[in-house]
Parts: sequence; C-alpha cells; structure tokens
Amino acid sequence: MLDKIKSLREEIETLQASNAEEVEQLRIKYLSKKGSVSLLMNDFRNVPAEQKREVGQAINELKTFATERINTLREALETADGDSAGIDLSRTASDLRLGTRHPLSIVREEILAIFSRLGFTVAEGPEIEDDWHVFSSLNFADDHPARDMQDTFFIRRNPDVLLRTHTSSVQSRTMEHTQPPIRIVCPGRVYRNEAISARAHCFFHQVEALYVDKNVSFADLKQTLLYFAREMFDSDTKIRLRPSYFPFTEPSAEMDISCNICGGKGCSFCKHTGWVEILGCGMVDPNVLEACGIDSKVYSGFALGMGVERITNLKYQIKDLRMFSENDVRFLEEFTAAH
Ligand code: DAH
Repeated sequence: MLDKIKSLREEIETLQASNAEEVEQLRIKYLSKKGSVSLLMNDFRNVPAEQKREVGQAINELKTFATERINTLREALETADGDSAGIDLSRTASDLRLGTRHPLSIVREEILAIFSRLGFTVAEGPEIEDDWHVFSSLNFADDHPARDMQDTFFIRRNPDVLLRTHTSSVQSRTMEHTQPPIRIVCPGRVYRNEAISARAHCFFHQVEALYVDKNVSFADLKQTLLYFAREMFDSDTKIRLRPSYFPFTEPSAEMDISCNICGGKGCSFCKHTGWVEILGCGMVDPNVLEACGIDSKVYSGFALGMGVERITNLKYQIKDLRMFSENDVRFLEEFTAAH
C-alpha cells in the first residue's frame, strides 16, 4: 500500500498540462470520486489495524500534494494567459457603454459658449438665498406677489431663507463685490412653488447675463441678443422686442425669435404667429445699481434672463417638461449624437 502511494506521488510530481482542459482532466483522473487518489481509500479498509495510522496519514498527505500540484498547474496557466503572449488579439472588445450628456447640459454649455465669445465670464451663486439678493436688491416692491408663499419656497417658514426663484440674484451678489466693467453669465437651477405638469415644474434652469460699464446702451443689448439668437438657432433668425415689465430693469422687454420650426411661416408650435418668446431683458434699473453699490450716474448696464428648458424645447421639441428630470434612459440616449 505504501509503495502504491509512493509511486502515485512520483507520477503526480511529473504531471504537466498545456491548457485548462488538461488540468481538469488531471483533476478528474486523480482527485474526483473515482480518481486514483480517492480510490486508495477503498483499499484502506483492508490495511491491517497496526498500519492504519501510518497509511492513513500517507494517503492524506498524497491528497494534499495532488491538490496543490494541480492548483499550481492551473495557476501557472492563468498567469501565462495574462502575459501579452497569451492575449487573444482577435477577440472583440467588451461593450463599454458610454453615458450621454443631459440635453439641458448640452444647451446650457452652448449658451455659455456663445456669451463667452462676447467676453462674458461665468458667475455662480447659491440656490438657498436670502430676501435681499432675490428680491429687495432687485427693486421688488414689498408687496410683490413673488414674495408670497404661493410662489416661493421658504425654508422653515423663515421669510429670509428661501430657494432662489431666478438667477438674477447672482447679479446683485456680483455687483456687491465687483466694480464695473462687469460682464457675466450666470447659469443655475431655480425653484418656484408650482404644481408639476407637462408645462410647469417646481424647479428649472436659467441663464442670466449682465453687462455693466460706462455708456452701455439699449443698442448694445439689442445687438447682443441678435448675435445670441443667430448663434443659438439659424443664422437667419429674426428677433423682435416687445415692451414688458420687470422690477429690476427699466425699460424692460421680452424677446421673440422667428419660429425656428416653421421658419416664421406659422405652425402649431408658434400658435400660427411665426414668433416664439425666448427671454426677458432690459436696462438695469438705476435703483438696482445703487442698491449694490454702483454709481448709476457713471455706469449703466443691461441684463437678460432665459429658461434653459425653454431653449431646449425649441431646439429639440420636447413636449413634456417632466422628461428632463425623470432620467429615463430611452429619452437621454436620444442625445448621444448631439455631442
Ligand atoms: N428673472 C426673470 C425671471 O425669472 C428673467 C429676467 C428678465 C432676467 C429680465 C433678467 C431680465 O435679467 O433683464 O423671469
């Protein structure tokens, strides 16, 4: 019996394998239930009692030796596989799926890029704001409806801690600590207490632009708007300005562009008018300049603010605002080719 164990050990010592399949065959041959090492156990029954201890120990050792030897063979093959020599260069690469950029990010970056070509730099401010920066410094009357709980989210019912309702708050923050010339674009998320539907959401995104310097005129505003519209949409896009009202600008206007879907001929998107509204703008009210520590006798400025969702809708005709925040991959994947 001990001779048999010895010769099996010698045999196992010389084992070789050139692939995983062969290693597996060896494992079956020696270590499976019917393998030669396991079969030794059958003969063990016939070993005289006084030899049982010695033989039992020898069988156990052989089993450990065989297991180790086979594992070593397997490991040696696995490491060889990892070597450059073992790499199968004809194998197809694994499918690495890249994410896509969110349509709102694509459009926001495009807006910022257009303004950066005109010398505007990006400025940002906090989403949790105070009354001064969102309302008071921007010339909102004390009884302005936006200050109402119905329209603005207040935090812990404190009238001085609120979620900004527009990015115009970044205007006052910047003017407070910078003297003109100021030329900034302010992208960011804003919040309003609205019921969520296809056409309204309780949060959305805006980009604000502000230019304050000596002799800034309405003509500068108009030319900036025309440049923006033609860069953002088609190069033959027309613009028109309609008088409007905002507390922080005087005069104020809303800008329409010729409908980029029907080219101004009239379609259901532009309600057959040929025009679609895209932003609000105006000359910074002297009260705002003064509230932020800028001398309104020396400086003037223009400001404008637009909704990123609105511009994105115009570019990509997204029917339901909720699509932007649902993170449905089928929707997001449609923008793979855009950038
Ligand atoms: N803050 C305005 C809003 O949220 C948008 C706006 C209008 C911004 C006119 C401006 C502006 O800077 O001049 O509706």
